[in-house]
Amino acid sequence: MNACIRAVTRAAIYEGWKVFGIYRGWEGLIMGDIKELTSSSVSNTIQRGGTFLKTARSEEFRTPEGRAKAFENVKKFGIDALVVIGGNGSLSGAQALASEHEIPVIGLPGTIDNDLYGTDLTIGYDTALNTIMECVDKIRDTANSHDRIFFVEVMGRDAGFLAQNSAIASGAEAAIIPEDNTDIDQLAAFIGRGIRKSKNSSIVIVSEKDGGAMHYAERVRQEYPEYKVKVSILGHLQRGGSPTAQDRILASRLGVAAIEALKEGQRNVMVGIKNDQIVYVPISRAVHYDKPIDKELINVLSILSI
Ligand code: F6P
Repeated sequence: MNACIRAVTRAAIYEGWKVFGIYRGWEGLIMGDIKELTSSSVSNTIQRGGTFLKTARSEEFRTPEGRAKAFENVKKFGIDALVVIGGNGSLSGAQALASEHEIPVIGLPGTIDNDLYGTDLTIGYDTALNTIMECVDKIRDTANSHDRIFFVEVMGRDAGFLAQNSAIASGAEAAIIPEDNTDIDQLAAFIGRGIRKSKNSSIVIVSEKDGGAMHYAERVRQEYPEYKVKVSILGHLQRGGSPTAQDRILASRLGVAAIEALKEGQRNVMVGIKNDQIVYVPISRAVHYDKPIDKELINVLSILSI
């Protein structure tokens, strides 16, 4: 997030524009917690996790009255356009504000979940993916030494991108993801493949949705008591830390493209990346449609986990 704020700030200043940072997201816009950012305000931030502008979930902004209050501050501070960095909630808020008030809005996809339609990648996803991979590499030592099955729960909200791709990257034996919820019982399928035929440990990455790792570990204890099962929930470890090079570059490119979009007179679009090219997607589409997971990834994992 910091790398992206830096890019937006500097690209706008490069154009000779004035930039304000809004602290704590929509909540800060309602409260008028707004300060001018200079080029040096964003020095020494590209390598830092989190957001120096801070963030918050705002119940008030969900209401038309809250948004009207926020718009009062838009006028008060002489703000001509908003660049909003965030996930589905933040961008839905942007869409609601822009539909009720006269303000151009550009969205930037910032979420570790990678679940926004219209972009191949979201800011933060690669960093979280690498964190999970490093954690699973460490967990593997215990799994292996003690002949255990580990269910490792990862974030992703309703999406399985983090689970599926971290499973491939860490050489896990299986991933249980919400998108693969056909009539096949994913746990039974995994056990049925004859786990530990050629191995003495197994790691299953489980998406946090639907009870997550605890649920599956409990099922194994009940249904397959011959296995030694452990659970590890990675939690907020996944949301912090210094961003990867890929995330810093993505955040920088998208931030610059947001200012380009405003210069071109675009409004109410999210800047995304598709096949390594910048794209502009209506925010309404980005927040409305589900982003499908590529079934090839499911195939790759199952082939490689024999
Ligand atoms: O949407 C990003 C995300 O990290 C999800 O993966 C996770 O479910 C959620 O946010 C955690 O939110 P909080 O920090 O409010 O518990």
